[in-house]
Formats: sequence, structure tokens, C-alpha cells
Amino acid sequence: MSFDQAILVTGGAGYIGSHGVLALQRAGYRVVVLDNLVYGHRDIVDNVLKVDFIEGDTNDRALLDKIFADYNIGAVIHFAAYAYVGESVSEPDKYYRNNVVGTLTLLEAMVAAGIDKFVFSSTCATYGIPKTVPIPEDHPQSPINPYGMTKLMVERILADFGVAYGLRSVCFRYFNAAGADPLGRLGEDHNPETHLIPLVLQTALGIRQAISIFGTDYPTPDGTCIRDYIHVCDLADAHVLGLQYLIDGGASTVFNLGNGSGFSVKQVIDTARAITGCEIPAVECDRRPGDPPALVGSSERAIQTLGWKPVYPDIESIITHAWNWHQKRHKV
Ligand SMILES: NC(=O)c1ccc[n+]([C@@H]2O[C@H](COP(=O)([O-])OP(=O)(O)OC[C@H]3O[C@@H](n4cnc5c(N)ncnc54)[C@H](O)[C@@H]3O)[C@@H](O)[C@H]2O)c1
Repeated sequence: MSFDQAILVTGGAGYIGSHGVLALQRAGYRVVVLDNLVYGHRDIVDNVLKVDFIEGDTNDRALLDKIFADYNIGAVIHFAAYAYVGESVSEPDKYYRNNVVGTLTLLEAMVAAGIDKFVFSSTCATYGIPKTVPIPEDHPQSPINPYGMTKLMVERILADFGVAYGLRSVCFRYFNAAGADPLGRLGEDHNPETHLIPLVLQTALGIRQAISIFGTDYPTPDGTCIRDYIHVCDLADAHVLGLQYLIDGGASTVFNLGNGSGFSVKQVIDTARAITGCEIPAVECDRRPGDPPALVGSSERAIQTLGWKPVYPDIESIITHAWNWHQKRHKV
């Protein structure tokens, strides 16, 4: 593959995908974005990414064939998915159709077009309740919700497509993506929002009255759940390295992408209080079913194989960048 071939980025109008597009552009790649805008942001595509943009769906095979015929696509980075765990329990059909069937349609179109490099957004949710922490890539995968299952199914499809059609893939199993572009151009803007750091910062801004802490009696130092927060720009950089790995002829593989160290819910709230100077009221609630005490990944494989190194591993940088974005987005 040469640099004159473009990279198709699905879900490039979303949170992680948009940061991925900026990282790819910075590395010199030409990018085409496909997003159905169900959860993506058109203003970011037009005003920040300034990229070839196609509004459409990965389930639309005719559109995919046209994109592959019109643009000289050398590889696909697939961020597009629905990612609300609770909704995946109440509406599993929506998740299997979008995340599994949509991805299968995309992969079939790629094979038909002779495109053999694929970078996939998988998740630590494929592990389910961890038996060991930090979690290595060879930890058993046993998802406890349909969302995690859709991602595991795609991982299995990719393994089979590798054998049958020679399609090479990098699956990145993300832990909790957080933070924002340090220059303030992009950030996290999910609707509805379910992630801890934006919820805490919306509470700081007065958009929410209080932040709920689910469970204070876990076997952790302060009793609250520990999660692995990875800066979205570090995730984005890993995608550029993963793409380069495939271009260089690398075999299909899987990488965890996390910080390697976790932060508790209370640590996140206390750090946000210090950075924002706001009180951030918190309400202690019962545990939620299915929440493991600690979810922390080992990213040694990505560090060793790709030469990846998180630039912003500290929770202060993650929250500071997110705070700058939230103030700008909500025009404080
Ligand atoms: N945010 C996290 O912490 C996290 C953790 C693990 C894995 N992931 C995965 O990373 C990816 C990106 O997550 P995000 O937080 O940026 O979500 P997001 O909702 O902000 O971005 C996803 C984008 O994909 C688009 N999209 C969804 N289905 C589509 C389809 N069929 N065709 C075209 N576009 C479609 C949406 O409109 C949206 O812009 C997802 O695959 C998600 O499962 C995210």
C-alpha cells in the first residue's frame, strides 16, 4: 500500500473516531469518513476535520461498493458501532444488526473490493468479569451483555475472514476512553451520556445536580469501583501505529489499549473537584448489577509490538483536557 491510497474511517464523526481522523491526518494519511450521524456530529466534520465525508450506513452494501469504487481505499478503520451497554440489554436486535451485521456487510464489501487491512474498535467488555487484573489479551472472553457479545462476534468473524480471504486485522480492545484533544478542537459529546468523566464535568457545570456513585463497599482501597481511563489521543495514536503495522505486513492480532493503572470513582471525582474548583455534589447509591470491582488492562503487547506509549497516562491531564472541552462546548 502507498500513501496515495485513502483510509476509510467509519464512525469518524463520533468521539474516538474524530480524534482518530486528526491523528491519521497528522501522520499524512488521506481520510474518507463514513458516518450515519445517528450519534455523530456534523459540525465537527465540517469545521474541524474538513475531510471527505459520506453520510451513510455500514449496512448499506450498495453505498459501500460505490465508496470503494470511487475512492482509492487501501484500509478501513472501523469505529462505527452502537455502544450503550444498558440499551444493548433492552434492544439486543438493534445491537446485533448494527454492530455485527453492519460489520459483516462492510467486511464482505472489502473482500469484494480486494481491500485486506482492517482496524477494529473492540472492547474490554468482551472479557466480562475478570479473573485476573491487570487483564492480558489471552484472558478468557465471556461478555456479560449483548454489546460485549457483538464485539466478540466480530472478533471471531475477523479470525475466520483472515483464514478464508486473507483479510488482516488489528483488534484494539479499549478500556475507558476519556479526555479530549489538548488543543480543544474535539471532545466527548455523547447523547445520552453514560461515561463517568463527562457526567462529573456536567455536574461541575451545573447541567446535572449530582453525580451518582454506584457502590461504596467494593473490595478496593476507597470502596468504589476502579476503572482504567485511557486518553482518547493515546487511543488515536495507537490506531495510526496499528494501521502502519498492517501496511508493513503484520499478521492479524489483538491489543489491549489501557493505561495499566486504574483510578477509583472517588479519585476521579476528587481530581475533578481540584481541577474545576467546583463542589461537584455526589450521591452514594447501591451497587449496579454486573459492575466488577476493578477493570484494568495490561497493554504490554501494544507497547512492545507497536512501540505505543501513552503520552497522557495521568488522570489530571485527562480531566483537564476534558474540562477545557466541556467549558467550550457548553459556552461557559
Ligand atoms: N467510548 C469508550 O470508552 C469505548 C470503549 C470501548 C470500545 N469503544 C468502541 O469504540 C467505538 C467508538 O466509540 P465512541 O465512544 O467514539 O462512540 P460514538 O457513538 O461517539 O461514535 C460512533 C460513531 O459511529 C456512528 N455509527 C454507528 N453505527 C453506524 C453505522 N452502522 N454506520 C455508520 N456510522 C455509524 C455514530 O453515528 C457515531 O458517530 C465504538 O465501536 C465503541 O464500541 C468505545
